[in-house]
Amino acid sequence: MNIIGPDYLVFGVDDVEACCQYMTDYGLKPIDLTDKGGRFEALDGTGVVIRHRADPSLPAAMETSTMLRETVYGVADEQALQAIEQELSKDRSITRGTDGVLRCVDDMGFALGFQLCQRRTIDLPAERVNAPGDKPQRPANALGATQDMPALPRSLSHVVYFVPDAAKAEAFYARLGFVCTDRFVGVGPFLRPAGTLDHHTLFMIETPPFMKGIEHFTFHMGGPTEVMMAGYRFVEKGYQSFWGPGRHQFGSNWFWYFNSPLGCHVEYDADMDLHDDSWAAREAPISADTSQYFLFEHRPKWSPGGPGPDVPH
Ligand SMILES: [Fe+2]
Repeated sequence: MNIIGPDYLVFGVDDVEACCQYMTDYGLKPIDLTDKGGRFEALDGTGVVIRHRADPSLPAAMETSTMLRETVYGVADEQALQAIEQELSKDRSITRGTDGVLRCVDDMGFALGFQLCQRRTIDLPAERVNAPGDKPQRPANALGATQDMPALPRSLSHVVYFVPDAAKAEAFYARLGFVCTDRFVGVGPFLRPAGTLDHHTLFMIETPPFMKGIEHFTFHMGGPTEVMMAGYRFVEKGYQSFWGPGRHQFGSNWFWYFNSPLGCHVEYDADMDLHDDSWAAREAPISADTSQYFLFEHRPKWSPGGPGPDVPH
């Protein structure tokens, strides 16, 4: 089943205005924005939909406080949609809406959708680095960073769920062709569907049932400099850093997580590892040492001649 990855996430929130402002400031483009919410797109058209929690057009809320209402995956072709419908109709109701989206609920109670992938092809260079020992990636006079360089989310990367039973959840996604790339023992698997080489598009963390819902989602950026640049600008706008910047071990992705009014964290990531079926999944206990290689924290700008590093700015 050729599932490519999440196309969009749907939220039912308390404060529509704050969430819409947040997603705009994060770097997504507002589409059809009204006081009832809107859709927010990355450069390839993947994105996030914000509505009020009482909006009757939303899928039913889960019994927990999570604001996530639906995860909609993009699939490669009609054949994949039919294969999903055939597999899941064995043990649940699955319907096709007038919007062409095939909808059902997974074994944990997360509402899912599947549609022909809506992603636009984007043609943008990744961050280019020059280093002794290799041919220049950036030619003479091409600057590596500028004050006004764009740092915009390119594509919806992954979503992370809190689930009450990670083994049961993994078994459900295995039916859709998701495979485990790596695993935090006793916590959950990093899963990737058949239509991508990305290390993961779904990670699950086993938690008590009352926490069930979304933990975070993230969009791919053009490289580590864009993660830093976008994150720095986000802090300057008043948003609160939660974790990062740093670099994860499983996936090697650069990360920076922020608090949000969507009831979950929101991340920027870049330069995730790619894997194919020749990869053997690794396992590790989860800890600070296995979750990242290094971790920094945001500081105000400084220059030599300024106040000492421990003096409040
Ligand atoms: Fe992440």
